[in-house]
Amino acid sequence: MIITLCGFMGSGKSSVGAELARRLGWHFIDLDNAVEESAGMTITEIFAAGNEQGFRKRESLVLNEILLAYSCKGSNLVLALGGGTPVIPENRKAIREKTFCVYLQASADTLFGRLEHDCGGRPVLTKKASGNPEALYERISCLLDARAGFYEECSRLTINTDSLGIGGTAAEIISSL
Ligand code: S3P
Repeated sequence: MIITLCGFMGSGKSSVGAELARRLGWHFIDLDNAVEESAGMTITEIFAAGNEQGFRKRESLVLNEILLAYSCKGSNLVLALGGGTPVIPENRKAIREKTFCVYLQASADTLFGRLEHDCGGRPVLTKKASGNPEALYERISCLLDARAGFYEECSRLTINTDSLGIGGTAAEIISSL
C-alpha cells in the first residue's frame, strides 16, 4: 500500500510522513528529496537553472517512477508529496488511483505562522515575497485558494492540522486506515 501526504508548503507533510512511516514500520520517501537526488541539484538550483515548468516535469517523472516501483514490489510506502505536486492533472489522477492520499489541511494563518521564518529553499514563495511578511501572507493565501480544490480532489482523507501536532496527526491517519 502507498500512503501519500499532500498539502500546502508548511502543512507538515515531511515530518508527519516520517513519523507515520516510523510508527507503521514502512518505508518513507520525501518527493522533494527524491527530485533533488535525481537532478543532482537542490530545488532552489533547479528553479534557478530553468523555470518552474522544468521542475514540474522532473517532479512528475520521479513521482511516477516511485509509484511504479512500489506498486511492482508490493511494499508499503509513505510518500510526502511536494506542495505543488497535485497542481498537475496527471499527477492528481495517479495519486488518486494508485495511493491512499491524505490532505493535511491548514489555514493561511497557521501556514504563515509556520513559514514566516522558514521559507528558505521554497522558491515558489521566496521569489515573490522575500523579506516582506505582508506579501508572503498574500502569496500563501492566494496560492492556497488556488490549490485547495486540487488537494481535495486527490485525497481520500482530510485532516485539519491547525491544532494538531506531528504525533497527533500521524495517530489520526493510523486510526483512519
Ligand atoms: C512547492 C513546494 C515544495 C517544493 C517546491 C515547490 C510548491 O515542497 O516541491 O519548492 O509549489 O508548493 P514542500 O511543500 O515540501 O515545501
